[in-house]
Amino acid sequence: MNDFVFQNKTKIIFGKDSEERLASLLTPYNSRVLLVYGGGSIKESGLYDKIVSMLNDNGIKFSELSGIIPNPRLRKVYEGIELCRSENIGFILAVGGGSVIDTAKAVSAGVRYDGDVWDFFEGKAELQACLPIGVVLTIPAAGSESSPSLVITKEEGLLKRDYSHNELRPQFAIMNPELTYSLPFYQTACGISDMLAHIMERYFTKTEHVDVSDRLCEGLMRAIISNAKLVKQNPDDYNARAEIMWAGTLAHNDLIGMGRETDWASHAIEHELSAVYDIAHGAGLSIIFPAWMKHVYREDEERFVQFAQRVMDVEFPNSMVYETIMEGISRLENFYTCIGLPTRLSAVGIDSSRLEEMAKKANSCGRFKRLDASDIYKIYRLALE
Ligand code: NZQ
Ligand code: ZN
Repeated sequence: MNDFVFQNKTKIIFGKDSEERLASLLTPYNSRVLLVYGGGSIKESGLYDKIVSMLNDNGIKFSELSGIIPNPRLRKVYEGIELCRSENIGFILAVGGGSVIDTAKAVSAGVRYDGDVWDFFEGKAELQACLPIGVVLTIPAAGSESSPSLVITKEEGLLKRDYSHNELRPQFAIMNPELTYSLPFYQTACGISDMLAHIMERYFTKTEHVDVSDRLCEGLMRAIISNAKLVKQNPDDYNARAEIMWAGTLAHNDLIGMGRETDWASHAIEHELSAVYDIAHGAGLSIIFPAWMKHVYREDEERFVQFAQRVMDVEFPNSMVYETIMEGISRLENFYTCIGLPTRLSAVGIDSSRLEEMAKKANSCGRFKRLDASDIYKIYRLALE
């Protein structure tokens, strides 16, 4: 096991009606709030009205940055930075999912930086100061509610890039599973795929003696798979929604990755897809992850057998190593299919025309196996049909 330091400052307020605690969480900051949200789901569900009433009733002044789209764009970040400066904002409240939260984080990082906020994503600057952020989570998926990371797409050149800094972890995350009942099942499924991927990016490691975090990963993956099926049967199953929501946070708050090297190639390869084709991140991952597995399993067959046996319940004889590995991957694909997600590029209308270009852009990623552009191209080809 590798050495590590673990600290996660995000206070989680979890459960029914937990959004009612919002005003008391904001009051100590005693500042004008920037309310950030997406395309309208919070207005349809009534959450927007509820939050606005709470802010008004408690004398908390606020401005709004709305219309954040999935795979959020840099233009909105610039708009938010201008708003924060002109309206003297002291706290950013993100109400939504990863796209909204990541925009809030980028705005938070940019407000007190004199240069272009994109510098952070290009490794040209390190964060020195930022505004505090709070979250009301409406979709369990990206784990951004307590992660230090953010992912933004620059329109020019369609560059989807990430940045990470511990100071960008939200101060609090309000998580009421009931707020997720209104999600279309496809969005729920995309979220489930993303959280599974966050676990697998950590699970497939070359670090030895990581029993505790292996078991945490395996338990989480099993719980996600079984509760996903329950949510599919009954979208209003509170307990299943709660399990999925909590799993999404645990998948990406860094706890399960401590002491082990992590990979992140599948994410880098997927980010090129969602930048160029604007597909949902989770749907891109259900296509890329199995293809990545088929390309890299020879790096550590034992680990892939362990995944097949402990997570996917494959019980072939010990001598059938290759068959066990392939059956594990095939059961993962069947799970994605069972929750309505694609497992091939052709299923989302993507052909081979831009694979080479994307492979070059994602060049040099991954740690379980270091991948160059030619590896990445092979992975896209494996994902094609
Ligand atoms: O915009 P609205 O109208 O709110 O609709 C959203 C959006 O269309 C909808 N939605 C959210 N909550 C809802 C709802 N619809 C009905 N009822 C609700 N309760 O869901 C759609 C997707 O929202 P989005 O925020 O894009 O989803 P997600 O949380 O999956 O975030 C995806 C983004 O996060 C990035 C991804 O790359 C992608 O850009 N990631 C961020 C990470 C991080 N910060 O740590 C890590 C991840 O690996 C990921 O890369
Ligand atoms: Zn992800």
